Amino acid sequence: MYFATCLLLTLADKPPDMKIIKRTGWILLVILVLIQFIHPAKNIQAGVQPNHITTAYPATAAVTDILQKACYDCHSNNTVYPWYANIQPVAWWLNHHVVEGKRELNFSEFMQYRIRKQYKKLDECIDEINEGEMPLSSYTLIHKNAVLSKEQKQTLINWLEGIRQQIAATNPPDSLIIPKKHT
Ligand code: HEC
Repeated sequence: MYFATCLLLTLADKPPDMKIIKRTGWILLVILVLIQFIHPAKNIQAGVQPNHITTAYPATAAVTDILQKACYDCHSNNTVYPWYANIQPVAWWLNHHVVEGKRELNFSEFMQYRIRKQYKKLDECIDEINEGEMPLSSYTLIHKNAVLSKEQKQTLINWLEGIRQQIAATNPPDSLIIPKKHT
């Protein structure tokens, strides 16, 4: 960035100098090559995930299929990486989504959440799906099969809603309320 800015400033008050333009090109190319050696750690955890949501709340094959193609890449401990995830700066950009996504909601750690957080997250999921906010549009642009049909959305929502009802039926109501923070 520093180089690019300096060179742009130099270019601004002089007529374009081919030498400088060429040199800038080379510098950028070298940077692009060098960053290929930097890789964010991949989000892949082999083996059974004991706190995964489906260990406690089994999902049908249809639900699993929807979660897998539309949600798990950013909201679980296992991302299926496309080939271009090995290319920088794309890898950083994808990694950012995975880190942010998992921070909000990780289906692989779901059973570790407090019951009221589980209850709330399920509700957020239903909202996000209804509003068409999730999966992210930058994701569905490339992953066409993650665009959910009306029926698929309903299938997923029914499953999420079923879990919410199960939680509500087996826990005292006040354990499901997130206490307001005192400010
Ligand atoms: C490409 C990655 C990606 C995919 C795929 C994805 N999400 Fe997300 N999700 C994110 C990111 C990043 C955030 C946090 C930032 C935000 O809210 O936009 C998030 C946030 C959320 C939240 C919290 C929103 C809130 O209320 O703050 C929920 C719930 C959620 N996602 C559910 C889902 C569900 C359900 C699916 C599948 C139908 C899904 N996501 C697919 C990346 C993704």
